[in-house]
Amino acid sequence: MDKMWAGRFTKPSDKLADDFNSSLPFDCRMYVQDIRGSIAHATMLGEQGIISKADADAIIEGLSGILADLVSGKLEFDYSCEDIHMFVEQVLTQRIGDTGKRLHTARSRNDQVAVDLRMYLGAECETIAALIKELIAAITEQAEAHKETILPGYTHLQRAQPIVFGHHLAAYGMMLSRDLGRIGDAFKRMNVCPLGSCALAGTTYPIDRKATAASLGFDGPCLNSLDGVSDRDYCVELLAALSLIMTHLSRFSEEIILWSSWEFRFVELDDAYTTGSSIMPQKKNSDMAELVRGKTGRVYGDLMGMLTVLKGLPLAYNKDMQEDKECIFDAVDTVKKCLEIFIPMIRTMHVNKDRMYRAAQEGFINATDIADYLVRKGLPFRSAYKIVGQIVGHCIQSHQMPDEMPLSEYKTFSDLFEEDLYAEISLETCVKKRTSLGAPGAMEEQIAYLKQI
Ligand code: ARG
Repeated sequence: MDKMWAGRFTKPSDKLADDFNSSLPFDCRMYVQDIRGSIAHATMLGEQGIISKADADAIIEGLSGILADLVSGKLEFDYSCEDIHMFVEQVLTQRIGDTGKRLHTARSRNDQVAVDLRMYLGAECETIAALIKELIAAITEQAEAHKETILPGYTHLQRAQPIVFGHHLAAYGMMLSRDLGRIGDAFKRMNVCPLGSCALAGTTYPIDRKATAASLGFDGPCLNSLDGVSDRDYCVELLAALSLIMTHLSRFSEEIILWSSWEFRFVELDDAYTTGSSIMPQKKNSDMAELVRGKTGRVYGDLMGMLTVLKGLPLAYNKDMQEDKECIFDAVDTVKKCLEIFIPMIRTMHVNKDRMYRAAQEGFINATDIADYLVRKGLPFRSAYKIVGQIVGHCIQSHQMPDEMPLSEYKTFSDLFEEDLYAEISLETCVKKRTSLGAPGAMEEQIAYLKQI
């Protein structure tokens, strides 16, 4: 079939050039949005008297038929078309004849693709937000079940102070709650309608941009036609938000991998979300978590790719912008898959309380609490800190933990030590007494916050 622009050219384009130019293999996924956008446009053209009502009705009917046939699989994509916009217009004209050629009045593919992509990504924002909420719910369930499960909290990957596992999990819940906010923010700026910007300079036809924007569910039309066709900030914003989701899932994955190792054995992932080795029969690998960690690099790459495509592009539309889709689609697909696998993986994760408790008993993680004990007895914190440093050194040398050391030995470091020390520095007390807002002894507020998301 001749190209739409064949009149201007003296010979057909090269097959290689056609393939290179084509975006149908990846923009075909926006067919629903493309057809919905065209129906809104045709309706407006009819209402405004730019085309006749009869033509508008024929176009709308034709487009609805194409949509139904694509959904049912009766109609297949013709990959000789340059993109989804050309494909739909071609089928429409084949089906309803010359009337179909009136659809592209007061419109360009430049505003069309921008509308399609904003609508497509808007729907994806909703799906991703729902998945984040589900993951937060799974995390909160486990956090609540383990609000008294003691384990060491770490800094520098060194045992630092005792916390509860629910506290650690709730930290990821907080990260994801911010991710939810970022997806919502990205959506707000995405949800403005470029339709009617046309190629770059608007149109002389009396179009009603507010009507098309409203009928497609946008908050309103964008206010500058050049910006309308060349803005891809919403892609960058969404990619940045997706990248941060992956950062959080990747850090979580790293910990799950570490906790599942034989060295830690804090958790055991369900068999359904692990794999074995083809050679070492004892192995149970956290492949899902490792893949999430690996895929994080892909999503960062998508963000960098998008930013680099936009850098240096003159206004308004340039074909470079066709490269926006593969990055953003890859990132959206990847994040959805990662969230989908994370939800059941977290829900079914078995927690080894004994191992966690034993790890907390070693490593002097109540040292700060011994110092705080002396502070309560009147010593300045810095002096108490120094004494406890000496006690830790002594314990290491004499192969004992602070709770095992007899009071008589404590007395050689300070006569402020009394029998009540032991209850004061037990792991349970250390955790329960940390009731400052956000601390492991104050889980209720954190869990309540995560539950209302
Ligand atoms: N397939 C193009 C894209 O994805 C649609 C817009 C093409 N516009 C143009 N004037 N060539 O960006």
